[in-house]
Amino acid sequence: MMNKPFSQACENNKQPILNILTTVFSSTKHVLEIGSGTGQHAVFFGQQLPHLTWQTSDLPINHLGINAWLDEAVLANVQRPITVDLHKTWPVPNNNLPVDGLYTANTLHIISWPLVVKFFAAIAQNLAAEASVCIYGPFNYNGKFSSESNANFDSWLKERDINSGIRDIEAILLLAKAAGLNLIDDHRMPANNRLLVFSKI
Ligand SMILES: C[S@@+](CC[C@H](N)C(=O)[O-])C[C@H]1O[C@@H](n2cnc3c(N)ncnc32)[C@H](O)[C@@H]1O
Repeated sequence: MMNKPFSQACENNKQPILNILTTVFSSTKHVLEIGSGTGQHAVFFGQQLPHLTWQTSDLPINHLGINAWLDEAVLANVQRPITVDLHKTWPVPNNNLPVDGLYTANTLHIISWPLVVKFFAAIAQNLAAEASVCIYGPFNYNGKFSSESNANFDSWLKERDINSGIRDIEAILLLAKAAGLNLIDDHRMPANNRLLVFSKI
């Protein structure tokens, strides 16, 4: 059995995020997570929100790690990872049931801007009407980093991949609007992150 991958950031942010998801997803039935990463968020949120199903997804390279967390947790409502590669058309998760919730954390600054554009276009195509969409991560406001640590993080990201980087909230909101998403809340979170909550028209 493989050692489970571990993210300290996920351990730190899972409870503050849950505090908001508890309300936002209170009547949501089927959540699709994009970029589940280690799988820690899926296991924690699945345990704490047993009224919904949580469909994990990521590139195949991360499936083994996500499965290791799921093997240990044994949760009936958290589903084995499917491949959602934002370069491609999304598969239909949840046995064809309508996806009325979407969650993603720390993905929009990792993928390239053209993929961010595709991400929102896919939301427009794949999500049910009135779906709730939660996007967690750092954002810039008025063209400025919201902290020195975010500025350093952005430099670090760009050294690894010039196409990555912290996104401008104004550009994100334009894409969201074009995808039929209304911004409901923009929560300030610990460590200079935000949790954006949208509702699909
Ligand atoms: C920084 S990690 C965040 C993981 C996790 N959500 C978290 O908060 O720790 C970024 C995630 O985006 C995923 N990712 C990168 N490129 C992707 C793509 N083209 N399609 C789907 N996911 C992608 C990575 O595999 C990784 O899981």
